[in-house]
Amino acid sequence: MQVHQYDVIIVGAGGAGMRAAIESGQRARTAVLTKLYPTRSHTGAAQGGMCAALANVEEDNWEWHTFDTVKGGDYLVDQDAAEVMAKEAIDAVLDLEKMGLPFNRTPEGKIDQRRFGGHTRDHGKSPVRRSCYAADRTGHMILQTLYQNCVKHGVEFYNEFYVLDLAMTEVDGVRRPAGVVAYELATGEIHLFQAKSVVFATGGVGKVFKTTSNAHTLTGDGMAVAYNRGIPLEDMEFFQFHPTGLAGLGILLSEAARGEGAILRNSEGERFMERYAPTIKDLAPRDIVARSMANEVREGRGCGPNKDYVLLDLTHLEPAHIDAKLPDITEFARTYLGVEPYTEPVPVFPTAHYAMGGIPTNIGAEVLADNDNVIPGLFAAGEVACVSVHGSNRLGTNSLLDINVFGKRAGIAAAEYSKTADFVELPEAAENDTVALLEKMRTSDGTERIGAIRKDLQELMDANVQVFRTDETLREALDEIAKLRERYSNVGIQDRGKRFNLDLLEAVELNFLLELAEVISVAAIHRKESRGGHFREDFPDRDDEGFMHHTMTYLDPDSETDGIKGMRLETKPVIVTRYQPMERKY
Ligand code: FUM
Repeated sequence: MQVHQYDVIIVGAGGAGMRAAIESGQRARTAVLTKLYPTRSHTGAAQGGMCAALANVEEDNWEWHTFDTVKGGDYLVDQDAAEVMAKEAIDAVLDLEKMGLPFNRTPEGKIDQRRFGGHTRDHGKSPVRRSCYAADRTGHMILQTLYQNCVKHGVEFYNEFYVLDLAMTEVDGVRRPAGVVAYELATGEIHLFQAKSVVFATGGVGKVFKTTSNAHTLTGDGMAVAYNRGIPLEDMEFFQFHPTGLAGLGILLSEAARGEGAILRNSEGERFMERYAPTIKDLAPRDIVARSMANEVREGRGCGPNKDYVLLDLTHLEPAHIDAKLPDITEFARTYLGVEPYTEPVPVFPTAHYAMGGIPTNIGAEVLADNDNVIPGLFAAGEVACVSVHGSNRLGTNSLLDINVFGKRAGIAAAEYSKTADFVELPEAAENDTVALLEKMRTSDGTERIGAIRKDLQELMDANVQVFRTDETLREALDEIAKLRERYSNVGIQDRGKRFNLDLLEAVELNFLLELAEVISVAAIHRKESRGGHFREDFPDRDDEGFMHHTMTYLDPDSETDGIKGMRLETKPVIVTRYQPMERKY
């Protein structure tokens, strides 16, 4: 086994990880460990933009942006975090511009900006142009730009190193990270990385659902690794369903289409969002649009032979405008559905897109051990984290912003921490659990197949834990997940080799998905109200008296929550600074 030592280890090379690495790499000896080659990370799939109140094309300011973020998140947002993000957004965009990102420009040469859901002028009066963009490839451009700048700054990458464990050691009664255990895909070797600071930036867990915009690799790795080491997961019940996935496939069609003027229509040709959000219509926040679409289908106004989708109509837009602003997504519609967006509306339906919950952090990107204490030396940023800047529903374009603002903060904080701290001694045989797990899996004669269990899990989550939920569907999901976990204990893989054993990789990923599906379902059972992305048909109203709190779910062998042994659910107050919860009308 090889042992390495760095001041800072960053796990994950998407936008948050690489933004952190650019900062940390200039201040401390830093390495990035990534399951994927960096430019294959899922940030590259983000399309429509990154918002900042630059006011380049119309009046705007960071206070309106903060308000929109809080209201968009249905008041579960920690408002100190939203304020930091909205204020630092402006420099975050300018940083990227200086790094060379080719933003679209106005005729005067300023960074151009367009509309996106829930972003408004003057506290909801009308949509505002706040999203900075590079056609519909903004995430791709950010990822390439950050990678080039990491290379420029000499950041060290360990590509295709899958981090499977976090080594923690108690020092003077306080648990601290000592390093991480990684599995090198090319060789099957285990590596131990000792570090003073560890940053998790591994992205989300969209693959827990069948219909998702997320890539195959989004299996909640960082969340699960942290959870298994006793770190709580915050607000896992809140999952965002992006309104416009290509029907039947889930592939993302950017909200930028609606930002550029596209309209959602039902089978009667009606612009139905006028009924649900009379002021900002198709540009309401995603939770509202996704629910409205699902409702149209439920009430029989869906389109197609099975009446199971609605239509995104771009036919009134000039083809030249479509080509200039939305080239990729219109090509997706042609390639995957055979639909020509110039002349035909595109079938769309909500797709699982983004986890609002994750590893709890404060605004300094420090990971929380519980409501009151941080874990010194441990940081998280991006979708894996929950700084609770998105509350119960993230606004479009706030995620590319989040990864840049809190990725930068995490990188600086991790490097600065490493200057003041000594290495913590690694626990004895820190790699043992990982070695044992992989060996058991690699040599098992089990008869269950990974693909079959994963398919059943994803279909179950789509059926029971999607846009609409009830106590009954959630409890049924938990029962079925327990059965799937039982089947998983008899899983066998076909590839027994050590080199690029993707069968083995997927077996580990599936275990993470099963664990997190359980956490999502338990937290969703707890929340007996409807808020943001979590809609309980049995409790259709928001209940600020009972549920104006975050959930914190812990792996705890001595506890039982909703029949799940080994899980404890606690709550954490929401940080409210200037905006008291109000009725959420658009
Ligand atoms: O619709 C989109 O382009 C997605 C953006 C986002 O999730 O922020």
